[in-house]
Amino acid sequence: MTFTFPPDFLWGTATASYQVEGAVHEDGRTPSIWDTFCERSGTIADGSSGAVACDQYHRYREDIELMQELGVGAYRLSISWSRIIPEYRGPVNDKGVQHYRRVLQALRDAHIRPVVTLYHWDLPQYLQDRGGWAVRETAEEFERYADVLARELGELVDTWTTLNEPWCSAYLGYGSGVHAPGIQDYGQALAAAHHLNLAHGLAVQAIRRRLGDEAKVSVTLNLQVCRAASASPADMRAKEQSDLFANEIWLGPMFDGRYDPRLLQSTEGISDWAFVHHGDMETIRQPLDSLGINYYSTMYVRQREHDLVTASARPAGPYSSPMPAQEGVEVLPPEGQLTAMGWNQEPEGLRDLLVEMSKRYPGLQLMVTENGSAWDDTVENGGSPFGGEIVHDPHRVTYLEEHIKAVAEAIDEGAPVSGYFAWSLLDNFEWSLGYGKRFGILRVNYDNQERIWKDSGLRFREIVRGNAI
Ligand code: FCB
Repeated sequence: MTFTFPPDFLWGTATASYQVEGAVHEDGRTPSIWDTFCERSGTIADGSSGAVACDQYHRYREDIELMQELGVGAYRLSISWSRIIPEYRGPVNDKGVQHYRRVLQALRDAHIRPVVTLYHWDLPQYLQDRGGWAVRETAEEFERYADVLARELGELVDTWTTLNEPWCSAYLGYGSGVHAPGIQDYGQALAAAHHLNLAHGLAVQAIRRRLGDEAKVSVTLNLQVCRAASASPADMRAKEQSDLFANEIWLGPMFDGRYDPRLLQSTEGISDWAFVHHGDMETIRQPLDSLGINYYSTMYVRQREHDLVTASARPAGPYSSPMPAQEGVEVLPPEGQLTAMGWNQEPEGLRDLLVEMSKRYPGLQLMVTENGSAWDDTVENGGSPFGGEIVHDPHRVTYLEEHIKAVAEAIDEGAPVSGYFAWSLLDNFEWSLGYGKRFGILRVNYDNQERIWKDSGLRFREIVRGNAI
């Protein structure tokens, strides 16, 4: 059976500045927390960094040509804050601005709509030196940064996304410490969560002040599909508890204008939430044109019977639930065929999530801003329809097809999904896991920066061009 997507459905690919750009010392850019974090030994699995990455800073024209070949109508990219404002409260760096103007213009010339993320985790180091997301000032600086971008790039951007996955910034950056800046302090993680929420609200206001209500503004959340291991009240409570920290801490303030009181109750002893100031809730809750959802896998939880693991001793795998306040919640080991990340594959989770969000927030446009899978690819000599090497990646092809079908099912069930972005256009720097995990639908040969077609890229091209699966 063929499902045809709506005629204006937006197909795209996604990347993030620190993961693909490289050129970290060029044109006035100063270090971000990821440059600093990568220098610390033991932080990145293969000891690498984003210093060169895919060199997209210099190769964006070639990458845009590949996007044209794919036939996509959109590119989701992020902007490096420290390229735009390299010094604390310093002047705007014209070279940084001009670089992104060239990229955005080239996309426009290729009829590819730029979906621009303001913050995909690369906080300027000078702000971390003053406390980073754990302090309120960072949210205020973000407002100025958003204002600068709206002023300098306004007419070239199609859709603005304030934040990418604040969950990761807060919990992995300040809680488990597996991401930059590598802090392990759950009190700071909660403060970071609130200041990220606040930064989002301030940025939406700043963009709309500059560009008016026609500006399309969104946020991207990695909403987690937490499933209870059984229907027992104890396991259902564990699920509820996980939902609170994974999802409600963002959805609540951004869309409902409140923090669930149970969040406050379950963090007694960790935080008094004094960082929430009078008026913050009104600032954070801003009308949005769409909600971006990043989806990879599901998570099963149950009630832990004997919660003997102390907060500090608790293992904090990058994608388990790192909040120590989740007393008694146990994340079960994933089942079935796992991707190279060790994540399970459950396309129904994406369908369920989209349908659930469409019911919870009727009228809100939804976009799948990331979806994809990592596998250990091998390159074969010859066989690419474009000449040269090819990667046969049947697992990634299946993952892609199954998840696009899940999106189709959600649309069929009435969810207003307006776009799908494959993560990622290219293999890239996968944060603490370095270059070992490849998510690209195109391969990158890091020795010579060659882009190599994979079967998944060819399959995506077919789906995109046919607007159907
Ligand atoms: C998401 C990130 C993205 C990428 C994928 C695999 O959490 O937003 O940068 O690392 O995971």
